[in-house]
Amino acid sequence: MKEKKDGRHEQALTVFGCQWGDEGKGKLVDWLADSYDVVVRFQGGHNAGHTLVVDGKTVKLNVLPSGVVRKDCVNVVGNGVVVDPFALVEEMGRLEDLGYGLDSERLRLSERAHMILPVHVELDCARELQAEKGKIGTTGRGIGPAYEDKVGRRGFRLGDLRDIGGMRADVRMRSLLWHHNALRVSLGLAEVGEDFILEGLAGISELLLPYVGDVSRELGAWRSGGKSVLFEGAQGAMLDMDYGTYPYVTSSNTLPGQVATGSGLFMEGYVLGVAKAYTTRVGSGPMVSDLSGTGEGIMLRDRGEEYGTVTGRERRCGWFDLVQMRHVCQLGGVDGLALTKLDVLDGFDEIYVCEAYEHGGERFYEMPLDVRVQEVAKPVWRKFSGWKGKSHVGVRRREDVASEALSYVSYLEEALEVSIEFLSVGASRDATIVMKDLTF
Ligand code: IMP
Repeated sequence: MKEKKDGRHEQALTVFGCQWGDEGKGKLVDWLADSYDVVVRFQGGHNAGHTLVVDGKTVKLNVLPSGVVRKDCVNVVGNGVVVDPFALVEEMGRLEDLGYGLDSERLRLSERAHMILPVHVELDCARELQAEKGKIGTTGRGIGPAYEDKVGRRGFRLGDLRDIGGMRADVRMRSLLWHHNALRVSLGLAEVGEDFILEGLAGISELLLPYVGDVSRELGAWRSGGKSVLFEGAQGAMLDMDYGTYPYVTSSNTLPGQVATGSGLFMEGYVLGVAKAYTTRVGSGPMVSDLSGTGEGIMLRDRGEEYGTVTGRERRCGWFDLVQMRHVCQLGGVDGLALTKLDVLDGFDEIYVCEAYEHGGERFYEMPLDVRVQEVAKPVWRKFSGWKGKSHVGVRRREDVASEALSYVSYLEEALEVSIEFLSVGASRDATIVMKDLTF
């Protein structure tokens, strides 16, 4: 097991996004991975875009865990993840070009992880194109259709790459083709056959199979051997299938409750939620504190460079939403928070927090369940003085944080009843301020 730093070190740590994704989890995981032996992705797919800045180099990850840039970290893609084998090979190639080549000791892929195939990508894009109203604004990576086939018991998994001939004859092939062809015809796409499903898999299987195995068993053995494990969430809690802003969500459970089923390992430990010091969302769906198109919204977008890493889409920006965050801290069993991109607020005279929602003469301090209410509810703002003129670029110690920023942080801690353990003030590893004595 890696050496513990001073203070507390849990054998398991879960890091997950508390908003609508893009909270800066990748940077935090890369930083924390220094004291963990294994990093595990347990849901989502290459719809995620985790950006790390290591030694001045920018590394963009999609499906690979953010421990891949650390030579002594084992990285695991769990069964809860959906994997596009072609995109994965490309991502591994990009990493190799940057000097972070992987071998089968450092990367393990669950044989139970379902594959995203070209039929899924085509279906995702065709459905989005067709939807006039109710468009989800997906990343177009085939995530939803792949999870649908998993639940529909007609999906193929990475382990199936061991016998591609067997896939052709498998009962799932017939049911997959029935299902997709019916949908394809109704969406104006050409029908496909077995060859389309299997195309290119033989070449890819040779590259991927050395990494594929029963990772839940491997994880169990590592846990028994005292190894420490960091579970890395993707997307954000508000995109969770069950507890997010359904139907404007992703197709997996993004909350820490998913860790055990998505990895095959149950381990209690510390839950670190990651939230931006303001709010962003990409894609459709309610976001009560949305300020898109206003001066403040544009300033948050520009200062925060809020454009999607996967699709390049502009993110919707607004102030921090306490109603949404209270909901997530409770659902996620959050032990502590990391507040990211605090430096983006440096340029504001005044800062606001959405304290409650208002609709139909009623005030909501708890998240209203009905998405239609969330869509029309208005934010109730609380104003804070900003710290314009005081920059947090280069700040590394709590003592150097502007007093107004500390008041803002203390207010959030009290309102959420959760301790803010880390502040992030930049993309690089070291742009992280440890607020308490908690270190991992
Ligand atoms: P899907 O996951 O591609 O099906 O997209 C469903 C919704 O989740 C859309 O609103 C996407 O914009 C959003 N989404 C998916 N992955 C991410 C992410 O990593 N960051 C932010 N939003 C995401």
